[in-house]
Amino acid sequence: FPVEDIRNFSIIAHVDHGKSTLADRLLELTGTIDKTQKNKQVLDKLQVERERGITVKAQTASLFYSFGGKQYLLNLIDTPGHVDFSYEVSRSLSACQGVLLVVDANEGIQAQTVANFFLAFEAQLSVIPVINKIDLKNADPERVGKQIEKVFDIPSEECIKISAKLGTNVDSVLQAVIERIPPPKVHRANPLKALVFDSTFDQYRGVVASIALFDGMLSKGDKIVSAHTKKTYEVNQVGILNPNEQPTHKLYAGQVGFLIAGMKDVTEAQIGDTLYLHNHPVEPLPGFKSAKPMVFAGVYPIDQSEYNNLKSAIEKLTLNDSSVTVHRDSSLALGAGWRLGFLGLLHMEVFNQRLEQEYNASVILTTPTVPYKAVLSSAKLIKEYKEKEITIINPAQFPDKSKVTEYLEPVVLGTVITPTEYTGKIMELCQARRAIQKNMTFIDENRVMLKYLFPLNEIVVDFYDSLKSLSSGYASFDYEDAGYQTADLIKMDILLNGNIVEELVTVVHREKAYTVGKSICERLKDSLPRQLFEIAVQAAIGSKVIARETVKAYRKNVLAKCYGGDITRKMKLLKRQAEGKKKLRKIGNIEIPKNAFIKVLKTQ
Ligand code: GTP
Repeated sequence: FPVEDIRNFSIIAHVDHGKSTLADRLLELTGTIDKTQKNKQVLDKLQVERERGITVKAQTASLFYSFGGKQYLLNLIDTPGHVDFSYEVSRSLSACQGVLLVVDANEGIQAQTVANFFLAFEAQLSVIPVINKIDLKNADPERVGKQIEKVFDIPSEECIKISAKLGTNVDSVLQAVIERIPPPKVHRANPLKALVFDSTFDQYRGVVASIALFDGMLSKGDKIVSAHTKKTYEVNQVGILNPNEQPTHKLYAGQVGFLIAGMKDVTEAQIGDTLYLHNHPVEPLPGFKSAKPMVFAGVYPIDQSEYNNLKSAIEKLTLNDSSVTVHRDSSLALGAGWRLGFLGLLHMEVFNQRLEQEYNASVILTTPTVPYKAVLSSAKLIKEYKEKEITIINPAQFPDKSKVTEYLEPVVLGTVITPTEYTGKIMELCQARRAIQKNMTFIDENRVMLKYLFPLNEIVVDFYDSLKSLSSGYASFDYEDAGYQTADLIKMDILLNGNIVEELVTVVHREKAYTVGKSICERLKDSLPRQLFEIAVQAAIGSKVIARETVKAYRKNVLAKCYGGDITRKMKLLKRQAEGKKKLRKIGNIEIPKNAFIKVLKTQ
């Protein structure tokens, strides 16, 4: 394929606006998949994606399309739509020259439509607006066209109105891809320069990398070098994704495809790496901004004997999703484990689900926290910590006030788009979350876009759910990183009859200490078995107790249920009670079963 007959593009959209459905239609229309095949959403390959109906990993497909008497090669790179995965979106975009921006004709522009548009705009890509779902009864494509003109400054006449579900007008989308998106700017005569934009691990073949060729060409048998590791490999196989792997003899600059080159170690195919031919080094491509984890949580095997299995599962999954950061960690209650950093909450849940489904691992996931910072107060401390500012991802390492000049917390710039009738309630919610309003724009008569600066920890757990429930599901939300701000943070201890429970130490904002402390005490009270004596469950800041619950004394008489009679049943019950006690941890003279910790530590 001559370069001028190649188009590399991506589809971006708010969740559920119809990206995957449109991708399926494009695949059918180009004969890539059979229409009669009942494989809906072929590109969503992961089980978690099929179950949740969302795209998590970007997938790629090469389409062949004849137009104006010429055959074109259209490389479609599917991208996830959710806020947590904007990292994947920007990665996919770096291999493209244009995007289809899909907007639902009924819902109109939503928070992620805005976020995704700006990712494409900043990457200087051609944007083709596509208004989807025009078959819906309440569809109002004219209104959505005006919103697009107002918010993105794209003339409404440029919008293509389609129904991806019914296939209406989908062929004009392909024509627009050819006419409005430029071919890639590449040099085939130059030596190879290829970008690794994705990689997966296959048990039998090792690493399978998705690559985009910027210069030169690549054949089976070539010797290539990774600019990142400087390791040399021999190419075993190259090919295109159709959407399944289809081996070819060569790949040429401008093409997107896959590569297998005997990379066995999970760290060998770094996403963002540049590959070049042995003896022909090139200036590496700028690579990707490394993803910054925003949410941290402890991950532990339910049973310590599962530690090694879980370790290898985490290693393999992080190759596939390099935005997860991994630190080893351990907890007195939960044993050896890890502290993982995620881009957001959905990202964390999806990772957990993938561990379970793809690697059969069952894990305990602790309540997420955000990375706080502390600015150290003396030269001596700076020398000791080797840094002026330390990042605290584990509350147990929170430095005392006497050591710091100030604490900092991460903040994000949040965008909420909502029908105007919910504006008041949403503003109240944002205020309760310590957010500061930055901006308010009407995108049409009955829709408003609000911008707020939020402390990240205020939105990390349940903000999105609250927003959805008070707007009957109509408000959408997205956020971007906005640095750090000074924060009045304190360390809160949880005590059982006066003894600190180390696993439950929490860092909170002073304003929220009571609410958070009370909630932990209540949960702990509910999950602690009664004992022979009364237990005081307290939350304290330093020596000051701010919340208290009491577990009443009780003699658990397991035999009471037996109504005399059957002696073997009595024996069994006594045995079971003894076994249950084995896994206890003692704090003072109080015995805490592992389950009680799990109930308090894990995400609600
Ligand atoms: P994510 O991958 O999660 O970001 O979602 P998506 O944007 O890929 O959306 P998807 O294609 O999964 O479509 C979401 C829902 O909208 C599905 O139930 C589709 O059947 C439906 N849908 C997509 N296109 C149309 C359309 O043109 N008309 C109608 N009525 N429904 C559509």
